[in-house]
This record gives sequence, structure tokens and C-alpha cells, in this order.
Amino acid sequence: MATINIDSQLHQSSHDKKLFKDNYISFIYSYKHDIKALLAYGGGKYKMRNDLNDIFNNHLTKYNHYDTYVDGFYGMGGSFKALSDSLQKHGVKTVIVNEINTCIITMHENIRNSPIKMRDYFLEFVRTEIIIPYKKLYIPIEDFLKVKQKMIQRFNELQKKKEFGIETSTLLIMLSAFNFSGMMSFKKGGIISFGKPIYEFDDIDDFFYKTIKRIDTYSKLYNRFDMKFFNSDYLLMYKEFKHRKNTLWNIDPVYLKEDYREYNAEEMMNLQNSDIKECTVNYSQKNFNHIGTLDSLSDIDFIYNNNVSPILYHYINKLDLEYKPFNRKELITSAKNAKVKNVVELILYKNNFKQPLNNIFDSKSLEKCA
Ligand SMILES: C[S@@+](CC[C@H](N)C(=O)[O-])C[C@H]1O[C@@H](n2cnc3c(N)ncnc32)[C@H](O)[C@@H]1O
Repeated sequence: MATINIDSQLHQSSHDKKLFKDNYISFIYSYKHDIKALLAYGGGKYKMRNDLNDIFNNHLTKYNHYDTYVDGFYGMGGSFKALSDSLQKHGVKTVIVNEINTCIITMHENIRNSPIKMRDYFLEFVRTEIIIPYKKLYIPIEDFLKVKQKMIQRFNELQKKKEFGIETSTLLIMLSAFNFSGMMSFKKGGIISFGKPIYEFDDIDDFFYKTIKRIDTYSKLYNRFDMKFFNSDYLLMYKEFKHRKNTLWNIDPVYLKEDYREYNAEEMMNLQNSDIKECTVNYSQKNFNHIGTLDSLSDIDFIYNNNVSPILYHYINKLDLEYKPFNRKELITSAKNAKVKNVVELILYKNNFKQPLNNIFDSKSLEKCA
């Protein structure tokens, strides 16, 4: 997509930060891109948007008016993005998001509150690491690999020192541009890791064109709400906010290993967390408290989703929950010989505190307010 013209224009303006910035921004915005998801993420829920919106609009809001949305496991915010228009239309003003990974939650906070600083970091990186030394934007792949390696190295250094700020936040977005090698994986202690290769040339376009657009799109979305960010274990933040009125929770936790066996009530008696099998991707959260998370559903209005498992049917019976299946395709090998398998998820939901909109003195709502 880049032309010789833009190369010389960017190179000529590279001695003047402001001019370079203006040229680069007007260049990338002369192309239209639709930013659907912030970053590729294992477990991102934008794909579930039709079902999430149906549950919100046709079931949950039938009996309640919500002014607050809480997301207990925020990840890349795919569930929130999917629901955002419906939430705003309904009148939700406050959005409280929680994520145990500090690097990830800091990135969201920076996107909302400091998008210009992130944009400037990216532009300065392109100016000093690509345009000035190479005099052009589209450099040979071997050189781009060296540039990518620099980004990885810097990102790893910052994570090691636990310095989470504008730089880690922007590098997280920059490194996620590279398709398979840009799919973050989690190491011990929640350390995020990226692969070194670049499998597709289009990924370089993604890096040049979409980094700033991702930041801008999500910053605008986040600024439509009064948004608060928490970096805590879900059950701790749940204790803090469970009594909040007019609140809808989204619970999209660590995945259970999908299990298509029939539900057997006896098997579920005395179920312990240590008996529960998880998916291989657990965001490095060992011994995740699945039972505590499922038990928390009795005290809130919520949407919860996870891979199908008899455990979920157990809770559907125990807490008298509504549910809906969702079919998705999962990539089981990466890069060149990618294979997909079909996986069934269940979306559970319930209005535990129904407040018929014309009768605010319903006994359960009073119970919740007490
Ligand atoms: C399935 S992902 C959420 C995906 C998100 N709904 C989206 O669409 O992008 C689950 C997230 O929960 C986070 N997490 C894991 N254990 C947690 C805990 N105990 N408390 C809060 N967050 C946790 C993980 O780091 C991960 O980002």
C-alpha cells in the first residue's frame, strides 16, 4: 500500500517530530479500517455479540434498569465491546472492569486516559527505529524482524521490572499486530510472551496502519462511559461490589476443559476445585477458584459463559439459571497447518434481583438494597 511518495514525505519530515506525526496520521487515515476487536486474544468474546445482546435486551432488562456494568474478567474487553451500544442505549453510565493481569489492565486504563501519549510513543518508535535509519516505511522482512525483536526485548525488560506504563501498554498493542506470533501467551506469574516470527506480510500493514486506529477506536468507546479499572482477583472485587444496586455483571472466567458427558447429580456432590479440569489456556492462573466463581452467581444479576461441562448443568439446576448454547470454532494448531475444532460453550444468565420496572418495591429488590 505504501508508495515511494509517502516514503520520501515521511523521511523528509522525520527531522521534525510534529510534521512527521501529522504526515503519518493523515497517511494512515486516508485508508479505512474497521477495528472490531482491540487485540487477538484467547477467549475474546466479540464473536458472541448476537447472543450477548439478545440476553441483555430481551431477557435481563425486561425486569431491571441497570446503571452500572461490571466485568469481572475483562481480558481484551470483547464482551464489553459487544454489549457497549446496548448498554449505552439502555442508560448504563458506569463501567467497572477488573482483570488480574497488571499489564493488560494498565493498557486499558492508558487507552482511555492517555491515548495521545500512546500514539506518540508509537510514532516516535516508527520515526527513530524505521524511517530515520532505513529512509522508508516498508523495509525488507529481515530488517523488520530485527525491529520486532527490539520491541520484544524492551517489552520483556519492562515486564521483568514490573514497570507497567505507556511504553508496555503501547508495545502490547504493537506486538499484537503479528497474527499467530502476535497472539499473546502467558508464562509463570502472568508474564506475557510473544513469538518472534512474522508469518504474513499483511501483519506489517496491520502494525503500520492499525496500531493508532486500535488505540483511537477503543479510547472513544471507553470515553462514552464513566469507566473504572481494577487489578484484583475476581472474588475480592466481587465482595466489594456485590451489593451495588442496578448492576449487571459479566463473568467470562478461566475456561473449563469442555466435557460433553451427561450431568450426573451424584457425581457433582462434594465437588472440589482440585477435581476440576481446565483448558490448557488458563492465563497462568493456577488453581483458579471455579466453584467460588460459580457460587458468586447466586448474589448478582449476571451473564456468565464457559465451555460446556456437567459442572455448569449442576449450577443451572442448583441456582435455577437460564442458559443458551453457543458454538464456536477453536484453532488447535498455529501458523501454517492450522486446524479447527468445534466447541460448545454455555452462556448462563439470571436476573436474581428482579425489579419490575413499574413496581420498585418488589421484595427481592429491597432484599438487595438492605
Ligand atoms: C476468557 S478471558 C476474558 C475475555 C474477555 N471477556 C474478552 O472478550 O476479551 C479471562 C480473563 O480473566 C483473567 N483472569 C484470570 N483469573 C482471574 C481472576 N482470578 N480474577 C480476575 N481476572 C482473572 C485472565 O487474565 C483473562 O484475561
